[in-house]
Amino acid sequence: MYRNYTCGELRLAHVGQEPVLAGWVQTIRNLGAMTFIDIRDRYGITQLVADENTSVELKEQFDKLGREYVIQVKGVVRERSSKNTKIPTGEIEVDIEELTILNKAVLPPFTIQDDTDGGDELRMKFRYLDLRREVVRKNLELRARMAHIIRNYLDELQFIETETPVLMKSTPEGARDFVVPSRMNPNQFYALPQSPQIFKQLLMVAGFDRYYQIVKCFRDEDLRADRQPEFTQIDCEMSFVEQEDVLNMFEGLARHMFKQIKGIDPGEFPRMTWADAMENYGSDKPDIRFGMKFKNLTEVIKGKDFKVFDEAEYIVGICAPGCGEYTRKQLDALTEFVKRPQVGAKGLVYAKVNDDGTVKSSVDKFYSQEELAKWVAIFEAKPGDLMLIISGERTRALSALSVLRLEMGRQCGLTDKENFKPLWVIDFPLLEWDEDSARFYAMHHPFTAPIPADIPLLDSDAGKVRANAYDLVINGVEIGGGSVRIHDSELQAKMFKTLGFTKQEAENQFGFLMEAFKYGAPPHAGIALGFDRLVSMLAGLDSIRDVIAFPKNNSGRDVMNDAPSEIAQAQLDELCLSLVTPKSKG
Ligand code: AMO
Repeated sequence: MYRNYTCGELRLAHVGQEPVLAGWVQTIRNLGAMTFIDIRDRYGITQLVADENTSVELKEQFDKLGREYVIQVKGVVRERSSKNTKIPTGEIEVDIEELTILNKAVLPPFTIQDDTDGGDELRMKFRYLDLRREVVRKNLELRARMAHIIRNYLDELQFIETETPVLMKSTPEGARDFVVPSRMNPNQFYALPQSPQIFKQLLMVAGFDRYYQIVKCFRDEDLRADRQPEFTQIDCEMSFVEQEDVLNMFEGLARHMFKQIKGIDPGEFPRMTWADAMENYGSDKPDIRFGMKFKNLTEVIKGKDFKVFDEAEYIVGICAPGCGEYTRKQLDALTEFVKRPQVGAKGLVYAKVNDDGTVKSSVDKFYSQEELAKWVAIFEAKPGDLMLIISGERTRALSALSVLRLEMGRQCGLTDKENFKPLWVIDFPLLEWDEDSARFYAMHHPFTAPIPADIPLLDSDAGKVRANAYDLVINGVEIGGGSVRIHDSELQAKMFKTLGFTKQEAENQFGFLMEAFKYGAPPHAGIALGFDRLVSMLAGLDSIRDVIAFPKNNSGRDVMNDAPSEIAQAQLDELCLSLVTPKSKG
């Protein structure tokens, strides 16, 4: 028996008992007559103590110990004279009677405690040591707990958990595929799934009716804080359902999760059309923890000889409550902020409402107090507020203001991480026009059904067709997305045609799906939630890396084992692959 108690378990009630503990040495403090050793495992830390009564042999053992040594101790629990109220075991200590070194350890490259001295890269390289830290491990524990809650919830509702292939044919989800060469089929490749989309639809044709899977997906795309090349979805599909059924089902799951993990009920999730989200927040994933809704000024403030506005396609602004006090320096910083290439505005016009109701703006030369009073009315601005206005090409102006709005939300302290404001964004456009390739792309994926009333537009004005698609957005993060699917092979063929696929191309890529649909495909719909994003949101973290045991860095590398890496010539030969000098990325 290695242990009969964990290092987080002993309390005053155990005083007098003789536990056996095993774990890692956190610290050793040798105070002459007294020696204190903190022993740690995943459950907590227990203080071990030796004093003048301790045998010489035992004391000699202490001299051999170092940080992170794996030890086993036997001893007696006693009440501490000076208690530590910060840890659950802080009222007791264990008087050491026997100590065995189970394994030595070299000195770790950073301290294994919550406020470590290790930088990001170093902690990633030694991720197994990073995972020993409680702050990191508890995120993974939360992840495991949430997976368990999801499984229980969906199992209870008759969803069948089904695994789908990892080596598969490419499914277009908009990103690049990771591909795997096939040794047995020279010059042919599998693709790793960007999602199990096609398989879950086939499971509906198979009559499974309710499917789910907590599943790894792979996308070769540029990485950000909320994107990893391999990530996990809670992937679901249901038959004989409409949009309403899917929204209710997964709103139920999300609310259950909030209740279980956070002890809160965020209430019914509001729904917002994509068009309204864009118009009012400049984003298809609006953060509705705070207001600052966009006001369209395009028709109102032109014609005053201010060239920038007169020539703009769109003029749009927000009112930041209580920011009228901003100094010139702060306002210049905001202007610089919106002019950064990532934000893309050409400039920023601001106007402060003074205490007496008059307005001081950066364009006073062109606008009289009377004109500025109209702005105040549109923004419903109050004394002490700050109006911020961006103009230019419509999509650019909306997107730049949406970034500024989030920044103002942060600066005004309106983005409390413990305040959860979910919503459904619905009625997305079905198609997106791409100027470069002069063709439409499916905004969600090519299996998404159009809103029935818009089907006739597919022939006349395809860009206007709305999709029967929905996203779950929480605090400005896209947590999930899904749609009602096309279950009619004729409509699916028409969709492929609108997307510019020739009959042959559609046949090559999706022939098996269209074939399957001929054998009685039920009406079906589904959704996938980004599990990593959901966990990191509930953990109050900014990056999904912190909820993944072994994440990749921003260049898609595993810095711990140095993947991706070269492979041996023999392996290349077997796969009929030859190396070429990489083209420089354009
Ligand atoms: P979608 O592409 O919207 O839909 O993906 C669903 C959710 O997965 C998460 N997600 C990611 N998380 C981390 N890193 C990434 N690289 C990444 N990419 C996506 C997001 C997203 O909302 N098959 C469809 C679902 C359906 O129609 O049922 C799909 O994959 O949270």
